[in-house]
Amino acid sequence: MAIDLTFPDEFALLTINRPDALNALSFSLIEDIGHALDAVARSSARALVVTGAGEKAFCAGADIKELTDRTLIEQRRGAELGQAVFSKLDRLPMASIALVNGYAFGGGCEIALACTFRLATPNARFGLPEIKLGLIPGYGGTQRLPRLIGEARALEMILTGRPVPAAEALQVGLVNRIVEPPPQDAAFAFAREFTCHGMLGLQFAREAVKRAASTTLEEGLRAEADLSTLAYRTADAAEGMQAFIEKRKPEFRDQ
Ligand code: CAA
Repeated sequence: MAIDLTFPDEFALLTINRPDALNALSFSLIEDIGHALDAVARSSARALVVTGAGEKAFCAGADIKELTDRTLIEQRRGAELGQAVFSKLDRLPMASIALVNGYAFGGGCEIALACTFRLATPNARFGLPEIKLGLIPGYGGTQRLPRLIGEARALEMILTGRPVPAAEALQVGLVNRIVEPPPQDAAFAFAREFTCHGMLGLQFAREAVKRAASTTLEEGLRAEADLSTLAYRTADAAEGMQAFIEKRKPEFRDQ
């Protein structure tokens, strides 16, 4: 298998491990990622970090050598497979962090877009170069990128295929932070900034923010009212407020 799934400390770490092909996504690799995500969803990991093996690439996108000589029905199924697996990543019960340690092109950029957060090493490059192949992004890039950085900037990346360096990605909000070596330690430290809170609160907050991109303000506000009311019913909320009053650190139990 060209992926490694480990569970260091309280986290899950998924490494795309095909460095000879710059971690390009064959269809079987995408299926393996889907199975790994099922295991992560069932685990007690408090966050997932996704990264690429080797020094050069996070992931150079779909395996171009597999994309030729296929029927249109096969191409459509391929797009639907990639979309389904990346949506599974997007909908995990725990937050995910793409640790982009080199090229994140095409499907590689789209994996990063499906994660909750993106961290980049200084040598990272983001791009949707499909247009240079006569294609367009097919694993969610045309939908998630404009939601993240706005339509004009997304269209610039998609229509020109220009790679965006880490510093620019930070400037336009495509990445949360640029991290210095050792990048995995930096990713886990970043994760601890939110995993120290109760998991239920984290889930409700993510769910509420997700609604912002997919519904009207009125419906989003109703969802926020529902979810914030639900949060009051958790033992963690009782503990969090009591701890504030008693001037001590809360002990969340994810209940
Ligand atoms: N598919 C298959 N193989 C790939 C690959 C890809 N996407 N990207 C790199 N490789 C392979 C190369 O063929 C090469 O293999 P060989 O040694 O056997 O020839 C190896 O990885 C190293 O690559 P390069 O020699 O090209 O490395 P480089 O440092 O000169 O260039 C790069 C790096 C700029 C990332 C270049 O490899 C590149 O442009 N790759 C393709 C990127 C791309 O177009 N991605 C989009 C794919 S389509 C897609 O993803 C559709 C979608 O929406 C799902």
